[in-house]
Amino acid sequence: MKKLKVAITRDIPDEGLKLLAKDKRLAVKVFPHDRAIRRGELLRFVRGADVILSILTEKIDKRVMDAAGKNLKMIANYAVGFDNVDLKEAAKRGILVTNAAHPNVSETVAEHAIALMFALAHRLVEVDAFTRAGKYKAWGPKMFLGTDLIGKTVGIVGAGAIGQAIVRRLYDGFGVDILYADVKRNPLLETRCRARFVTLSELLKRSDFVSLHVPLLPATRHLIGKKELAMMKPTAFLVNTSRGPIVDEKALVKALAKRQIGGAGMDVYECEPFIDCDPSDNLELRTMDNAVLTPHTASATIETRQAMSRTAAENILAFVAGRRPPNLLKI
Ligand code: GLV
Repeated sequence: MKKLKVAITRDIPDEGLKLLAKDKRLAVKVFPHDRAIRRGELLRFVRGADVILSILTEKIDKRVMDAAGKNLKMIANYAVGFDNVDLKEAAKRGILVTNAAHPNVSETVAEHAIALMFALAHRLVEVDAFTRAGKYKAWGPKMFLGTDLIGKTVGIVGAGAIGQAIVRRLYDGFGVDILYADVKRNPLLETRCRARFVTLSELLKRSDFVSLHVPLLPATRHLIGKKELAMMKPTAFLVNTSRGPIVDEKALVKALAKRQIGGAGMDVYECEPFIDCDPSDNLELRTMDNAVLTPHTASATIETRQAMSRTAAENILAFVAGRRPPNLLKI
Protein backbone atom coordinates (compact mmCIF):
# COMPACT_ATOMS: atom_id res chain seq x y z
CA MET A 1 0.00 0.00 0.00
CA LYS A 2 1.27 3.48 -0.88
CA LYS A 3 2.09 5.41 2.24
CA LEU A 4 0.81 8.94 2.85
CA LYS A 5 3.70 11.39 2.93
CA VAL A 6 3.74 13.75 5.89
CA ALA A 7 6.23 16.64 5.64
CA ILE A 8 6.94 18.25 9.00
CA THR A 9 8.67 21.57 8.43
CA ARG A 10 10.31 21.94 11.87
CA ASP A 11 11.12 19.49 14.63
CA ILE A 12 8.37 19.73 17.25
CA PRO A 13 8.11 18.23 20.77
CA ASP A 14 8.10 14.47 20.47
CA GLU A 15 4.70 13.23 21.66
CA GLY A 16 2.91 13.94 18.39
CA LEU A 17 5.83 12.62 16.37
CA LYS A 18 5.63 9.34 18.31
CA LEU A 19 1.92 9.04 17.57
CA LEU A 20 2.57 9.55 13.86
CA ALA A 21 5.52 7.13 13.82
CA LYS A 22 3.28 4.35 15.15
CA ASP A 23 0.95 4.57 12.15
CA LYS A 24 2.30 2.31 9.43
CA ARG A 25 0.20 4.07 6.77
CA LEU A 26 2.38 7.15 7.08
CA ALA A 27 5.84 8.05 5.81
CA VAL A 28 6.92 10.95 7.99
CA LYS A 29 9.86 13.24 7.32
CA VAL A 30 10.97 16.09 9.57
CA PHE A 31 13.08 19.05 8.39
CA PRO A 32 16.44 17.96 9.79
CA HIS A 33 17.91 21.30 10.90
CA ASP A 34 17.28 23.10 14.17
CA ARG A 35 16.38 26.40 12.54
CA ALA A 36 13.55 27.91 10.54
CA ILE A 37 13.24 26.43 7.09
CA ARG A 38 14.04 28.94 4.33
CA ARG A 39 11.43 29.67 1.68
CA GLY A 40 13.31 27.84 -1.10
CA GLU A 41 13.93 24.88 1.19
CA LEU A 42 10.26 24.81 2.12
CA LEU A 43 9.19 24.69 -1.53
CA ARG A 44 11.50 21.73 -2.12
CA PHE A 45 10.77 20.02 1.19
CA VAL A 46 6.99 19.78 0.67
CA ARG A 47 7.23 18.36 -2.87
CA GLY A 48 4.94 15.33 -3.20
CA ALA A 49 3.54 15.65 0.35
CA ASP A 50 0.01 14.47 1.16
CA VAL A 51 0.09 16.32 4.46
CA ILE A 52 2.15 19.32 5.57
CA LEU A 53 2.63 19.94 9.27
CA SER A 54 3.67 23.61 9.32
CA ILE A 55 4.63 26.10 11.99
CA LEU A 56 3.32 29.63 12.39
CA THR A 57 6.28 31.44 10.85
CA GLU A 58 5.86 29.73 7.47
CA LYS A 59 3.61 31.32 4.91
CA ILE A 60 1.59 28.44 3.51
CA ASP A 61 0.24 30.02 0.35
CA LYS A 62 -0.55 29.15 -3.26
CA ARG A 63 3.15 28.69 -4.11
CA VAL A 64 3.67 26.19 -1.32
CA MET A 65 0.50 24.33 -2.28
CA ASP A 66 1.66 24.29 -5.92
CA ALA A 67 5.10 23.09 -4.83
CA ALA A 68 3.57 20.25 -2.81
CA GLY A 69 1.57 19.22 -5.87
CA LYS A 70 -1.73 17.56 -6.50
CA ASN A 71 -1.42 15.03 -3.69
CA LEU A 72 -1.65 17.65 -0.98
CA LYS A 73 -4.79 16.97 1.07
CA MET A 74 -4.13 18.49 4.45
CA ILE A 75 -2.24 21.25 6.24
CA ALA A 76 -1.93 20.76 9.99
CA ASN A 77 -0.68 24.04 11.45
CA TYR A 78 1.30 23.75 14.68
CA ALA A 79 -0.28 26.89 16.19
CA VAL A 80 -3.63 28.15 17.31
CA GLY A 81 -3.42 31.17 15.02
CA PHE A 82 -3.65 30.41 11.32
CA ASP A 83 -3.05 33.75 9.64
CA ASN A 84 0.02 32.16 8.00
CA VAL A 85 -2.16 29.78 5.96
CA ASP A 86 -4.17 30.90 2.93
CA LEU A 87 -7.43 29.24 3.93
CA LYS A 88 -9.30 30.41 0.84
CA GLU A 89 -6.73 28.93 -1.50
CA ALA A 90 -6.74 25.68 0.49
CA ALA A 91 -10.55 25.52 0.38
CA LYS A 92 -10.53 26.07 -3.41
CA ARG A 93 -8.29 23.04 -3.74
CA GLY A 94 -10.22 20.93 -1.24
CA ILE A 95 -7.25 20.89 1.16
CA LEU A 96 -8.22 20.55 4.81
CA VAL A 97 -6.57 22.92 7.29
CA THR A 98 -6.38 22.32 11.03
CA ASN A 99 -4.86 24.26 13.91
CA ALA A 100 -3.44 23.04 17.21
CA ALA A 101 -6.01 24.59 19.51
CA HIS A 102 -5.55 22.37 22.53
CA PRO A 103 -7.29 23.94 25.56
CA ASN A 104 -3.91 24.12 27.36
CA VAL A 105 -2.74 26.78 24.95
CA SER A 106 -5.22 29.38 26.20
CA GLU A 107 -4.31 28.71 29.82
CA THR A 108 -0.58 29.03 29.12
CA VAL A 109 -0.89 32.17 27.01
CA ALA A 110 -3.12 33.67 29.72
CA GLU A 111 -0.38 32.97 32.28
CA HIS A 112 2.19 34.63 30.04
CA ALA A 113 0.04 37.72 29.47
CA ILE A 114 -0.39 38.01 33.24
CA ALA A 115 3.36 37.48 33.71
CA LEU A 116 3.95 40.43 31.35
CA MET A 117 1.48 42.54 33.36
CA PHE A 118 3.36 41.76 36.57
CA ALA A 119 6.74 42.29 34.95
CA LEU A 120 5.59 45.77 33.91
CA ALA A 121 3.83 46.61 37.16
CA HIS A 122 6.78 45.52 39.31
CA ARG A 123 9.42 46.65 36.81
CA LEU A 124 11.03 43.23 37.00
CA VAL A 125 13.29 43.55 33.98
CA GLU A 126 14.64 46.94 35.05
CA VAL A 127 15.31 45.85 38.62
CA ASP A 128 16.90 42.59 37.50
CA ALA A 129 19.34 44.51 35.27
CA PHE A 130 20.04 46.98 38.09
CA THR A 131 20.70 44.23 40.62
CA ARG A 132 22.93 42.18 38.29
CA ALA A 133 24.92 45.29 37.43
CA GLY A 134 25.91 45.54 41.10
CA LYS A 135 24.05 48.83 41.51
CA TYR A 136 22.07 47.79 44.60
CA LYS A 137 24.08 49.55 47.31
CA ALA A 138 21.39 50.65 49.72
CA TRP A 139 17.67 50.15 50.21
CA GLY A 140 15.60 53.20 49.36
CA PRO A 141 11.96 54.03 50.07
CA LYS A 142 11.46 55.49 46.60
CA MET A 143 13.55 53.03 44.66
CA PHE A 144 11.89 51.59 41.54
CA LEU A 145 8.33 52.32 42.52
CA GLY A 146 5.91 50.21 40.54
CA THR A 147 2.18 49.75 40.70
CA ASP A 148 -0.22 47.18 42.17
CA LEU A 149 -2.49 45.05 40.07
CA ILE A 150 -4.98 44.56 42.85
CA GLY A 151 -7.99 46.84 42.53
CA LYS A 152 -7.03 48.04 39.05
CA THR A 153 -9.05 47.91 35.83
CA VAL A 154 -8.03 45.37 33.22
CA GLY A 155 -9.32 45.73 29.67
CA ILE A 156 -9.49 42.61 27.53
CA VAL A 157 -9.72 43.17 23.80
CA GLY A 158 -11.15 39.92 22.44
CA ALA A 159 -12.86 37.76 25.06
CA GLY A 160 -12.18 34.37 23.50
CA ALA A 161 -10.62 31.46 25.35
CA ILE A 162 -7.39 33.31 26.26
CA GLY A 163 -9.15 36.53 27.26
CA GLN A 164 -11.56 34.59 29.45
CA ALA A 165 -8.74 32.60 31.10
CA ILE A 166 -7.06 35.90 32.05
CA VAL A 167 -10.28 37.35 33.39
CA ARG A 168 -11.02 34.32 35.58
CA ARG A 169 -7.56 34.36 37.14
CA LEU A 170 -7.37 38.09 37.74
CA TYR A 171 -10.93 38.44 38.98
CA ASP A 172 -10.60 35.58 41.47
CA GLY A 173 -7.05 36.32 42.54
CA PHE A 174 -6.66 40.08 42.36
CA GLY A 175 -10.12 41.58 42.58
CA VAL A 176 -9.60 43.59 39.42
CA ASP A 177 -12.41 45.32 37.55
CA ILE A 178 -12.83 43.85 34.10
CA LEU A 179 -13.82 45.64 30.92
CA TYR A 180 -14.01 43.79 27.66
CA ALA A 181 -14.51 44.69 24.03
CA ASP A 182 -15.48 42.10 21.47
CA VAL A 183 -17.68 41.59 18.45
CA LYS A 184 -20.19 39.85 20.70
CA ARG A 185 -21.22 39.86 24.33
CA ASN A 186 -20.29 37.11 26.74
CA PRO A 187 -23.06 36.81 29.36
CA LEU A 188 -21.14 34.18 31.36
CA LEU A 189 -18.16 36.48 31.77
CA GLU A 190 -20.50 39.27 32.81
CA THR A 191 -22.24 37.27 35.54
CA ARG A 192 -19.28 35.18 36.71
CA CYS A 193 -16.66 37.98 36.78
CA ARG A 194 -18.75 41.17 36.62
CA ALA A 195 -17.04 41.97 33.33
CA ARG A 196 -18.47 45.01 31.57
CA PHE A 197 -18.96 45.03 27.80
CA VAL A 198 -17.68 48.35 26.43
CA THR A 199 -16.48 49.86 23.18
CA LEU A 200 -12.78 49.72 22.38
CA SER A 201 -12.47 53.49 22.97
CA GLU A 202 -14.05 53.26 26.39
CA LEU A 203 -11.87 50.30 27.29
CA LEU A 204 -8.71 52.15 26.25
CA LYS A 205 -9.67 55.28 28.19
CA ARG A 206 -10.53 53.46 31.42
CA SER A 207 -8.13 50.51 31.71
CA ASP A 208 -4.89 50.35 33.66
CA PHE A 209 -3.87 47.22 31.76
CA VAL A 210 -4.97 46.49 28.19
CA SER A 211 -4.44 42.96 26.93
CA LEU A 212 -4.96 42.04 23.26
CA HIS A 213 -6.47 38.70 22.24
CA VAL A 214 -7.90 39.07 18.76
CA PRO A 215 -6.97 37.08 15.66
CA LEU A 216 -5.07 38.81 12.87
CA LEU A 217 -7.61 39.70 10.18
CA PRO A 218 -7.80 42.62 7.75
CA ALA A 219 -10.13 44.31 10.26
CA THR A 220 -7.77 43.90 13.21
CA ARG A 221 -4.50 44.97 11.54
CA HIS A 222 -3.31 48.09 13.40
CA LEU A 223 -6.33 47.93 15.68
CA ILE A 224 -4.09 49.75 18.14
CA GLY A 225 -2.43 52.73 16.46
CA LYS A 226 -1.57 56.34 17.22
CA LYS A 227 -5.17 57.38 17.91
CA GLU A 228 -5.88 54.42 20.18
CA LEU A 229 -2.61 54.80 22.12
CA ALA A 230 -3.49 58.46 22.68
CA MET A 231 -6.71 57.35 24.38
CA MET A 232 -4.87 55.29 26.99
CA LYS A 233 -4.00 56.61 30.45
CA PRO A 234 -0.40 57.82 30.81
CA THR A 235 0.08 55.13 33.46
CA ALA A 236 -1.55 52.28 31.51
CA PHE A 237 0.25 49.20 30.21
CA LEU A 238 -0.39 47.49 26.88
CA VAL A 239 0.18 43.72 26.57
CA ASN A 240 0.22 41.93 23.22
CA THR A 241 0.36 38.14 23.08
CA SER A 242 -1.82 37.86 19.96
CA ARG A 243 -0.16 38.80 16.67
CA GLY A 244 2.32 41.60 16.02
CA PRO A 245 0.49 43.52 13.29
CA ILE A 246 -2.50 44.11 15.60
CA VAL A 247 -0.39 46.98 16.97
CA ASP A 248 1.12 49.74 14.83
CA GLU A 249 4.57 49.25 16.29
CA LYS A 250 6.01 52.55 15.06
CA ALA A 251 3.21 54.40 16.83
CA LEU A 252 3.77 52.27 19.94
CA VAL A 253 7.49 53.02 20.10
CA LYS A 254 6.75 56.75 19.78
CA ALA A 255 4.18 56.51 22.58
CA LEU A 256 6.67 54.63 24.79
CA ALA A 257 9.47 57.09 24.06
CA LYS A 258 7.22 60.05 24.93
CA ARG A 259 5.96 58.23 28.05
CA GLN A 260 2.49 58.69 26.67
CA ILE A 261 1.61 55.30 28.18
CA GLY A 262 3.14 53.50 31.16
CA GLY A 263 4.72 50.65 29.22
CA ALA A 264 4.21 47.66 26.95
CA GLY A 265 4.66 43.92 27.32
CA MET A 266 5.16 42.38 23.92
CA ASP A 267 5.43 38.73 22.88
CA VAL A 268 4.78 39.29 19.18
CA TYR A 269 6.12 41.81 16.66
CA GLU A 270 4.97 43.44 13.50
CA CYS A 271 7.95 42.23 11.42
CA GLU A 272 8.63 39.06 13.37
CA PRO A 273 11.18 37.61 13.94
CA PHE A 274 12.62 41.13 13.80
CA ILE A 275 11.83 43.13 16.89
CA ASP A 276 11.89 46.34 14.89
CA CYS A 277 10.65 46.64 11.31
CA ASP A 278 13.29 49.21 10.52
CA PRO A 279 16.38 48.64 12.66
CA SER A 280 18.04 51.74 11.18
CA ASP A 281 15.37 53.86 12.86
CA ASN A 282 16.52 55.76 15.97
CA LEU A 283 13.45 54.69 17.86
CA GLU A 284 13.59 50.99 18.51
CA LEU A 285 11.38 48.90 20.71
CA ARG A 286 14.48 47.05 21.89
CA THR A 287 15.86 50.17 23.51
CA MET A 288 12.73 51.17 25.44
CA ASP A 289 13.18 50.70 29.19
CA ASN A 290 9.39 50.75 29.66
CA ALA A 291 8.91 47.66 27.48
CA VAL A 292 9.20 44.00 28.42
CA LEU A 293 9.89 41.82 25.39
CA THR A 294 9.59 38.07 24.95
CA PRO A 295 10.28 36.12 21.73
CA HIS A 296 6.80 34.73 20.91
CA THR A 297 7.07 32.30 23.81
CA ALA A 298 3.64 32.86 25.38
CA SER A 299 2.64 29.24 24.78
CA ALA A 300 6.13 27.84 25.36
CA THR A 301 5.70 25.47 28.26
CA ILE A 302 6.61 21.81 28.01
CA GLU A 303 3.03 20.79 28.79
CA THR A 304 1.47 23.03 26.17
CA ARG A 305 3.96 22.52 23.37
CA GLN A 306 3.60 18.75 23.85
CA ALA A 307 -0.21 19.12 23.88
CA MET A 308 0.01 21.06 20.62
CA SER A 309 2.21 18.34 19.16
CA ARG A 310 -0.34 15.64 20.09
CA THR A 311 -3.17 17.79 18.75
CA ALA A 312 -1.49 18.31 15.36
CA ALA A 313 -0.82 14.55 15.15
CA GLU A 314 -4.35 13.60 16.22
CA ASN A 315 -5.76 15.80 13.48
CA ILE A 316 -3.61 14.03 10.90
CA LEU A 317 -4.49 10.59 12.28
CA ALA A 318 -8.21 11.42 12.21
CA PHE A 319 -7.91 12.45 8.57
CA VAL A 320 -6.00 9.27 7.70
CA ALA A 321 -8.69 7.19 9.41
CA GLY A 322 -11.38 8.93 7.33
CA ARG A 323 -12.74 10.88 10.30
CA ARG A 324 -13.28 14.63 10.57
CA PRO A 325 -10.16 16.18 12.12
CA PRO A 326 -11.17 17.69 15.48
CA ASN A 327 -9.59 21.08 14.78
CA LEU A 328 -10.76 21.54 11.22
CA LEU A 329 -10.85 25.24 10.26
CA LYS A 330 -13.60 26.81 8.20
CA ILE A 331 -13.24 29.96 6.10
C1 GLV B 1 0.95 31.01 18.84
O1 GLV B 1 1.10 32.17 18.61
C2 GLV B 1 -0.13 30.25 18.33
O2 GLV B 1 -0.93 30.76 17.53
O3 GLV B 1 -0.25 29.06 18.70
